[in-house]
Amino acid sequence: MVDNISWHKGKIDKKAREEKLKQKGMVIWFTGLSGSGKSTIAVEVEKLLFQKGRTVYRLDGDNIRYGLNKDLGFSPEDRTENIRRIGEVAALFADAGLITLVSFISPYKKGREHAKKAAGEDNFKEVYVKADVETCARRDPKGLYEKVQRGEIDNFTGISAPYEEPENPDLIIDTKKLTIEQSAQKVIEMINKELVD
Ligand SMILES: Nc1ncnc2c1ncn2[C@@H]1O[C@H](COP(=O)(O)OP(=O)(O)O)[C@@H](O)[C@H]1O
Ligand SMILES: [Mg+2]
Repeated sequence: MVDNISWHKGKIDKKAREEKLKQKGMVIWFTGLSGSGKSTIAVEVEKLLFQKGRTVYRLDGDNIRYGLNKDLGFSPEDRTENIRRIGEVAALFADAGLITLVSFISPYKKGREHAKKAAGEDNFKEVYVKADVETCARRDPKGLYEKVQRGEIDNFTGISAPYEEPENPDLIIDTKKLTIEQSAQKVIEMINKELVD
Protein backbone atom coordinates (compact mmCIF):
# COMPACT_ATOMS: atom_id res chain seq x y z
CA MET A 1 0.00 0.00 0.00
CA VAL A 2 2.90 2.34 0.61
CA ASP A 3 4.73 1.42 -2.59
CA ASN A 4 5.87 4.25 -4.83
CA ILE A 5 5.40 7.01 -2.31
CA SER A 6 8.01 8.83 -0.30
CA TRP A 7 7.83 11.46 2.41
CA HIS A 8 8.36 14.95 0.99
CA LYS A 9 9.93 16.99 3.74
CA GLY A 10 9.08 20.70 4.06
CA LYS A 11 11.31 23.60 5.04
CA ILE A 12 9.16 24.61 7.99
CA ASP A 13 9.05 22.17 10.88
CA LYS A 14 6.99 21.74 14.05
CA LYS A 15 9.51 23.66 16.10
CA ALA A 16 9.32 26.69 13.81
CA ARG A 17 5.54 26.68 13.95
CA GLU A 18 5.64 26.39 17.74
CA GLU A 19 8.00 29.34 17.99
CA LYS A 20 5.62 31.40 15.90
CA LEU A 21 2.60 30.42 18.00
CA LYS A 22 4.59 30.55 21.27
CA GLN A 23 3.21 27.24 22.45
CA LYS A 24 3.69 23.52 22.11
CA GLY A 25 1.62 21.59 19.58
CA MET A 26 -0.01 18.68 21.35
CA VAL A 27 -2.89 16.27 21.45
CA ILE A 28 -5.08 16.08 24.53
CA TRP A 29 -7.04 12.87 24.11
CA PHE A 30 -10.23 12.55 26.16
CA THR A 31 -11.58 9.02 26.43
CA GLY A 32 -14.57 7.70 28.36
CA LEU A 33 -18.11 6.42 28.13
CA SER A 34 -20.85 8.28 26.32
CA GLY A 35 -22.13 10.92 28.72
CA SER A 36 -19.02 10.85 30.90
CA GLY A 37 -18.27 14.48 30.06
CA LYS A 38 -15.63 14.46 27.31
CA SER A 39 -17.26 17.03 25.06
CA THR A 40 -18.40 19.26 27.91
CA ILE A 41 -14.91 19.42 29.41
CA ALA A 42 -13.18 19.85 26.05
CA VAL A 43 -15.49 22.76 25.19
CA GLU A 44 -14.67 24.44 28.50
CA VAL A 45 -10.92 23.85 28.14
CA GLU A 46 -11.00 25.21 24.59
CA LYS A 47 -12.72 28.39 25.75
CA LEU A 48 -10.31 28.96 28.64
CA LEU A 49 -7.21 28.38 26.50
CA PHE A 50 -8.55 30.57 23.71
CA GLN A 51 -9.19 33.38 26.19
CA LYS A 52 -5.55 33.09 27.25
CA GLY A 53 -4.48 33.62 23.67
CA ARG A 54 -3.68 29.99 22.83
CA THR A 55 -4.25 28.52 19.40
CA VAL A 56 -6.50 25.59 20.11
CA TYR A 57 -8.86 23.35 18.18
CA ARG A 58 -11.35 20.71 19.17
CA LEU A 59 -12.10 17.48 17.33
CA ASP A 60 -15.30 15.97 18.67
CA GLY A 61 -16.51 12.46 17.95
CA ASP A 62 -20.03 13.36 16.95
CA ASN A 63 -18.97 16.38 14.90
CA ILE A 64 -16.41 14.39 12.92
CA ARG A 65 -18.99 11.72 12.19
CA TYR A 66 -21.05 14.37 10.33
CA GLY A 67 -18.25 14.81 7.81
CA LEU A 68 -14.90 13.10 7.56
CA ASN A 69 -16.14 9.87 9.14
CA LYS A 70 -19.74 9.90 7.94
CA ASP A 71 -19.15 6.61 6.16
CA LEU A 72 -18.43 4.83 9.45
CA GLY A 73 -20.79 3.14 11.89
CA PHE A 74 -20.24 1.55 15.28
CA SER A 75 -19.07 -1.95 14.44
CA PRO A 76 -15.69 -2.87 15.94
CA GLU A 77 -14.04 -2.39 12.51
CA ASP A 78 -15.63 1.01 11.96
CA ARG A 79 -14.79 2.18 15.47
CA THR A 80 -11.19 1.18 14.87
CA GLU A 81 -11.11 3.09 11.58
CA ASN A 82 -12.87 6.08 13.19
CA ILE A 83 -10.11 6.37 15.77
CA ARG A 84 -7.30 5.59 13.33
CA ARG A 85 -8.33 8.49 11.11
CA ILE A 86 -8.83 10.91 13.96
CA GLY A 87 -5.52 9.91 15.52
CA GLU A 88 -3.82 10.80 12.24
CA VAL A 89 -5.74 14.07 11.89
CA ALA A 90 -4.97 15.06 15.49
CA ALA A 91 -1.29 14.36 14.87
CA LEU A 92 -1.35 16.73 11.88
CA PHE A 93 -2.99 19.45 13.97
CA ALA A 94 -0.36 19.02 16.68
CA ASP A 95 2.35 19.16 14.03
CA ALA A 96 0.80 22.45 12.89
CA GLY A 97 1.47 23.70 16.44
CA LEU A 98 -2.09 23.59 17.75
CA ILE A 99 -3.29 22.44 21.13
CA THR A 100 -5.67 19.80 19.86
CA LEU A 101 -8.50 18.57 22.07
CA VAL A 102 -9.92 15.24 20.97
CA SER A 103 -13.12 13.91 22.53
CA PHE A 104 -14.06 10.47 21.26
CA ILE A 105 -15.22 7.49 23.29
CA SER A 106 -12.22 5.64 21.80
CA PRO A 107 -13.06 2.38 23.58
CA TYR A 108 -10.06 0.34 22.45
CA LYS A 109 -6.66 0.62 24.04
CA LYS A 110 -5.00 -0.23 20.76
CA GLY A 111 -6.63 2.70 18.97
CA ARG A 112 -5.53 5.14 21.65
CA GLU A 113 -2.01 3.75 21.48
CA HIS A 114 -2.02 4.24 17.72
CA ALA A 115 -3.08 7.86 18.21
CA LYS A 116 -0.28 8.36 20.71
CA LYS A 117 2.27 6.93 18.32
CA ALA A 118 0.95 9.08 15.45
CA ALA A 119 1.33 12.30 17.46
CA GLY A 120 4.56 11.24 19.14
CA GLU A 121 4.61 10.26 22.79
CA ASP A 122 5.94 13.65 23.94
CA ASN A 123 3.07 15.45 22.29
CA PHE A 124 0.25 13.33 23.63
CA LYS A 125 -1.73 13.30 26.87
CA GLU A 126 -4.44 10.79 27.62
CA VAL A 127 -7.26 12.02 29.85
CA TYR A 128 -9.62 9.42 31.22
CA VAL A 129 -13.00 11.07 31.79
CA LYS A 130 -14.44 8.72 34.31
CA ALA A 131 -18.04 8.14 35.29
CA ASP A 132 -19.73 4.79 35.79
CA VAL A 133 -22.33 3.66 33.33
CA GLU A 134 -25.21 4.24 35.78
CA THR A 135 -24.16 7.89 36.19
CA CYS A 136 -23.84 8.34 32.43
CA ALA A 137 -27.25 6.73 31.90
CA ARG A 138 -28.80 9.03 34.49
CA ARG A 139 -27.35 12.10 32.74
CA ASP A 140 -28.19 10.76 29.29
CA PRO A 141 -27.45 14.14 27.62
CA LYS A 142 -28.35 12.84 24.16
CA GLY A 143 -31.10 10.41 25.09
CA LEU A 144 -28.97 7.52 23.89
CA TYR A 145 -29.22 5.37 27.01
CA GLU A 146 -32.99 5.60 26.80
CA LYS A 147 -32.80 4.42 23.19
CA VAL A 148 -30.57 1.54 24.27
CA GLN A 149 -33.17 0.58 26.88
CA ARG A 150 -35.81 0.54 24.14
CA GLY A 151 -33.56 -1.77 22.11
CA GLU A 152 -32.97 0.84 19.42
CA ILE A 153 -29.16 0.92 19.51
CA ASP A 154 -26.74 -1.99 19.12
CA ASN A 155 -23.06 -1.96 19.99
CA PHE A 156 -23.42 0.66 22.70
CA THR A 157 -20.21 1.18 24.67
CA GLY A 158 -20.44 0.13 28.30
CA ILE A 159 -23.62 -1.85 27.71
CA SER A 160 -23.43 -4.00 24.61
CA ALA A 161 -19.94 -3.09 23.41
CA PRO A 162 -16.71 -3.07 25.41
CA TYR A 163 -14.87 -0.12 26.91
CA GLU A 164 -11.23 -0.82 27.70
CA GLU A 165 -10.25 1.44 30.58
CA PRO A 166 -6.94 3.30 30.23
CA GLU A 167 -4.28 1.58 32.29
CA ASN A 168 -1.92 4.45 32.70
CA PRO A 169 -3.64 7.71 31.72
CA ASP A 170 -1.87 11.05 32.23
CA LEU A 171 -4.94 12.34 34.04
CA ILE A 172 -8.10 10.83 35.48
CA ILE A 173 -11.10 13.08 35.92
CA ASP A 174 -13.85 11.71 38.09
CA THR A 175 -16.83 13.71 36.84
CA LYS A 176 -19.02 12.23 39.54
CA LYS A 177 -16.97 14.13 42.12
CA LEU A 178 -15.84 17.24 40.25
CA THR A 179 -17.81 20.08 38.72
CA ILE A 180 -17.37 20.94 35.06
CA GLU A 181 -15.22 23.95 36.04
CA GLN A 182 -13.02 21.88 38.36
CA SER A 183 -12.64 19.21 35.69
CA ALA A 184 -11.61 21.77 33.09
CA GLN A 185 -9.19 23.36 35.54
CA LYS A 186 -7.38 20.05 36.08
CA VAL A 187 -6.86 19.69 32.35
CA ILE A 188 -5.64 23.28 32.07
CA GLU A 189 -3.10 22.66 34.86
CA MET A 190 -1.77 19.62 33.02
CA ILE A 191 -1.50 21.58 29.76
CA ASN A 192 0.18 24.53 31.46
CA LYS A 193 2.91 22.22 32.76
CA GLU A 194 3.64 21.26 29.16
CA LEU A 195 3.76 24.88 28.06
CA VAL A 196 6.48 26.07 30.44
CA ASP A 197 9.99 24.92 29.70
N1 LIG B 1 -17.65 17.23 36.03
C1 LIG B 1 -18.31 17.13 34.89
N2 LIG B 1 -17.65 17.21 33.72
C2 LIG B 1 -18.31 17.10 32.56
N3 LIG B 1 -19.64 16.90 32.43
C3 LIG B 1 -20.35 16.81 33.56
C4 LIG B 1 -19.73 16.91 34.82
N4 LIG B 1 -20.67 16.77 35.76
C5 LIG B 1 -21.84 16.60 35.11
N5 LIG B 1 -21.67 16.64 33.76
C6 LIG B 1 -22.74 16.48 32.76
O1 LIG B 1 -22.54 15.26 32.07
C7 LIG B 1 -22.93 15.36 30.71
C8 LIG B 1 -21.76 14.97 29.83
O2 LIG B 1 -22.14 14.98 28.49
P1 LIG B 1 -21.11 15.03 27.28
O3 LIG B 1 -20.06 16.05 27.57
O4 LIG B 1 -21.90 15.20 26.03
O5 LIG B 1 -20.46 13.58 27.35
P2 LIG B 1 -19.54 12.81 26.29
O6 LIG B 1 -19.02 13.81 25.33
O7 LIG B 1 -18.50 12.16 27.11
O8 LIG B 1 -20.46 11.82 25.64
C9 LIG B 1 -23.41 16.78 30.49
O9 LIG B 1 -24.79 16.82 30.58
C10 LIG B 1 -22.72 17.55 31.66
O10 LIG B 1 -23.46 18.68 32.03
MG1 LIG C 1 -19.28 13.91 23.23
